[in-house]
Amino acid sequence: MSIPYVPLDGRDWRFTMGLRPLALAQWLEFDEHVDDELAQKARLLDECYDDVVATLPGSEGAAAELLREVTANLAAHHATHNRVASDEHPIVAASRLVQEDLCLLERRDAWRLSAACVCFPSRWSLASKLGATLDEIHGPVPGYDDTLAGPTNAFFDRLDPERSYWRLNWTLLDSPVLHQPRAERRPPSGELSDWFFRVERQTLRRLAQSGGIVFTIRTYVAAAATLARENQEFGEHLWRALETAPSAVQDYKGWRGVADRLQDALRSE
Ligand code: HEM
Repeated sequence: MSIPYVPLDGRDWRFTMGLRPLALAQWLEFDEHVDDELAQKARLLDECYDDVVATLPGSEGAAAELLREVTANLAAHHATHNRVASDEHPIVAASRLVQEDLCLLERRDAWRLSAACVCFPSRWSLASKLGATLDEIHGPVPGYDDTLAGPTNAFFDRLDPERSYWRLNWTLLDSPVLHQPRAERRPPSGELSDWFFRVERQTLRRLAQSGGIVFTIRTYVAAAATLARENQEFGEHLWRALETAPSAVQDYKGWRGVADRLQDALRSE
């Protein structure tokens, strides 16, 4: 089980916007887990709809534009995955077609989360974020206010439909489960062999007609031990990021004491 992105470079830990230009042919990504992940989405939508879908009244128009963009993109770039959309809230219909989780933000008094279908949250609750501004959504993220809030809000105001972007986030957990809706902050239990490296590939696109902004989250998970076997530098780079994360970030991410445990594991190999 390996993954296409391992965003560690051996440098000290830092939160950055890290936005890169996105070609629309690369907006959506499919892999061999597509059937399993779409089946997981269907099951979650059946069993706990209100945990994985949140929509404000009035979001249907922009969400319908998002659905049209998804189906057009599938037709153009992923013909084998192109299917007829279901007749539900368009953000749910769109989400059933792709492995990505989908969020829609619309500018009211500020940019607010107006609709989302998030089946694979990384330890946060969707219901608590509906209608929230970007600053409110990121309330629990240490240092976001001082370093990222200004640039992120400015980026949203300037984002052009002709230029889309992507970025990566990563964390370390002791479970490979994709649906993790509780905001737990506990350090991964067990040893390196029990840990999972979880990467989110996020994209940002402005919709031309409604002006809404689409935020997609594509989640990749790999066993940390597999990545360490595949790449000799992985363990060292991971250790450096964990070791140099400020203590508020260690608490937020649930990383307290993890760098030391990782170092022991690497030494004993
Ligand atoms: C340029 C845009 C954005 C940047 C730079 C950004 C940055 C970040 C960062 C650095 C974190 C900390 C997460 C970590 O490393 O584990 C985070 C968390 C998060 N972000 Fe963003 N983000 C952006 C856009 C968005 C958008 C549009 C949403 C809309 C749903 C969003 C939802 C979240 C959520 C839900 C969390 C977890 C917060 C929690 O723990 O409660 N982000 N973001």
